[in-house]
Amino acid sequence: MQNRRRPLSYRFVVGLLLAVMVTSGSFWVLAQGETSADACEPDNLALQIESLQAALPADFEGDTDLALGNLFRLANIYQQLAINCGYEPTELEINALIGNTLSLADVGTILAANAVGDDMDAVLADLDSVTGDSFTGQLLYNGMEPALDGSALGCSGCHEGEAAPPTEGTWTRVDEERLVLSQFEDYSDVHYLVESILHPNDYIVEGYTANLMPTNFGQRMDVQQLADLVAYLMSQDQLPEDTE
Ligand code: HEC
Repeated sequence: MQNRRRPLSYRFVVGLLLAVMVTSGSFWVLAQGETSADACEPDNLALQIESLQAALPADFEGDTDLALGNLFRLANIYQQLAINCGYEPTELEINALIGNTLSLADVGTILAANAVGDDMDAVLADLDSVTGDSFTGQLLYNGMEPALDGSALGCSGCHEGEAAPPTEGTWTRVDEERLVLSQFEDYSDVHYLVESILHPNDYIVEGYTANLMPTNFGQRMDVQQLADLVAYLMSQDQLPEDTE
């Protein structure tokens, strides 16, 4: 019942809010996210707060749910107003906001927001902004450091056995045996490694089984973890004869 009424009431509130803000002259402050010294004067701020409180009353329609919704929206508008007027939240305040958001969002949403994804162009561009650490990469690879979702990636489980190409000499193999193939003409070593990890079935190394390597690594690691793994694999520059 309350749920059915909410969209209508919400539209009503927004309409009323806009009307009040237009008439009180404060509309543009929030709408455009711009700052004017005038609008941010304490007296004018107090006026805007008054109009906002009138537009989003805490006793709204005598309905607790809707009143709480107003309270929540007011808090957001106040914070946005302060930021638009030049307020810089302290680290403590930012951490509290992040903590609050994390406690609201479900784990899947948080993971999806932090995961590197599998759009190759975007991932390669993102990788430019971080520096991989091969030691952390080794820990991730060996499952001693958990992935974004708390699980072990399990790379070494396959790559230290017969089922997958060996870890040792990975970079040398990529450089000397993969990148010389015509389909990898335009690839860098990083591009090949990233594609092997995020899209393992795009190219199957000769002699190995297709569809064995998991295809969800893009959802299970963030860009820093991918950079760390790549740095670790780049450090595997043993000569092929050493690995035989
Ligand atoms: C279930 C087994 C399995 C797991 C787990 C696995 N891989 Fe693989 N991987 C394979 C197989 C099999 C191949 C070869 C077939 C292919 O090309 O897909 C391969 C190929 C690769 C290649 C290309 C190697 C080459 O010589 O060209 C790279 C790089 C790679 N994996 C990295 C990783 C990383 C990093 C992880 C962990 C995040 C991982 N793999 C997890 C099975 C696995």
